[in-house]
Amino acid sequence: MENAVEARELVKTYKVKKKQGLFRSLQENVEALRGVSFKVKYGEIVGLLGPNGAGKTTTIKILSTLLLPDSGTALVAGYDVVREPDKVRRNIGLMLTIEKGFYGKLTGRENLEYFAALYGLTKQKAVERINYLVKLLELDKLGADSKLFEEFSLGMKARLSLARALLSDAPILLLDEPTLGLDPPSARRIRELVKELAHGERKAVLYTTHNMFEAEIVCDRIILINKGQIVAEGTPNELKERIPKLKILNILIRGGNDVKPMLETMGLKYDVKAEDNGILSVKIHLRKPEELLDDILKMLVRNEFEIISVKIEEPTLEDVFIYFSEGTK
Ligand SMILES: Nc1ncnc2c1ncn2[C@@H]1O[C@H](COP(=O)(O)OP(=O)(O)OP(=O)(O)O)[C@@H](O)[C@H]1O
Ligand SMILES: [Mg+2]
Repeated sequence: MENAVEARELVKTYKVKKKQGLFRSLQENVEALRGVSFKVKYGEIVGLLGPNGAGKTTTIKILSTLLLPDSGTALVAGYDVVREPDKVRRNIGLMLTIEKGFYGKLTGRENLEYFAALYGLTKQKAVERINYLVKLLELDKLGADSKLFEEFSLGMKARLSLARALLSDAPILLLDEPTLGLDPPSARRIRELVKELAHGERKAVLYTTHNMFEAEIVCDRIILINKGQIVAEGTPNELKERIPKLKILNILIRGGNDVKPMLETMGLKYDVKAEDNGILSVKIHLRKPEELLDDILKMLVRNEFEIISVKIEEPTLEDVFIYFSEGTK
């Protein structure tokens, strides 16, 4: 079995009652998912990247059997989420953004012991697994053994949530914005761990985020979702290559002669801006900057410019995201 997750044409519409004055209410349909299909393989981290309200959490809830789709199907570990929810649950580790299940008056460790019992781990297995996870997520260093959950910081809560998702050592992890609101060390620890789990232990990971930077550094493949529809899919580099955008050669220079006529004789599309200390920032728009870089630098040196720095700027994943999202309007 190759695919850990296979979603086919998932559709979900929420029916919301909208108040109209004191006594009347109107029903409104919110189309959260409008035919979403994708696959996640074992050993792979797939990022579901999209803005607020795109349908990320709804997708995770359907895959984790917390919500039924209106139509479409999804197989998780080969089991149908609607017809075989128990088997699906046995194969997933779930982390949702807002964690309500923990007990405020129990310590972090006691909370994990409670969930281990609930998931049917034997006492000995539970102790072993909890010791391992507490170390792995550095919860011991943060005092999770003695502090009550209600005294936990957000970062500690997130780490505990991930520990809970990993208790049963399930082969498939569904993580809904696992680093939301965390400080850089906590976010980094979680990202590193997710990579180890997927690439080392061959777990399948579906990772939602609205953070492009994060998607790019964590995910092997990215699915862009917007308004309940997938708008693009690929590795971060593949997605960037798909946008018809020029690269920008950004050169900082000082001194020399008038630069504009030179750029014009070379037939270049450019933008020159004066910076502090007599420095000029020259931005040249090129399809293949590597091919012309040498000629441009030689020309600048011949005209007595001091070259301070040279950068070739790539389009960012943000450019990609905006490009594809706007394309669906
Ligand atoms: N329980 C609900 N009742 C009614 N509408 C809902 C419910 N849950 C979500 N929605 C709506 O469905 C759409 C998709 O929501 P969803 O939570 O899946 O988005 P998301 O991508 O997770 O967004 P975010 O980045 O804000 O977490 C939104 O328009 C949202 O308002
Ligand atoms: Mg969400």
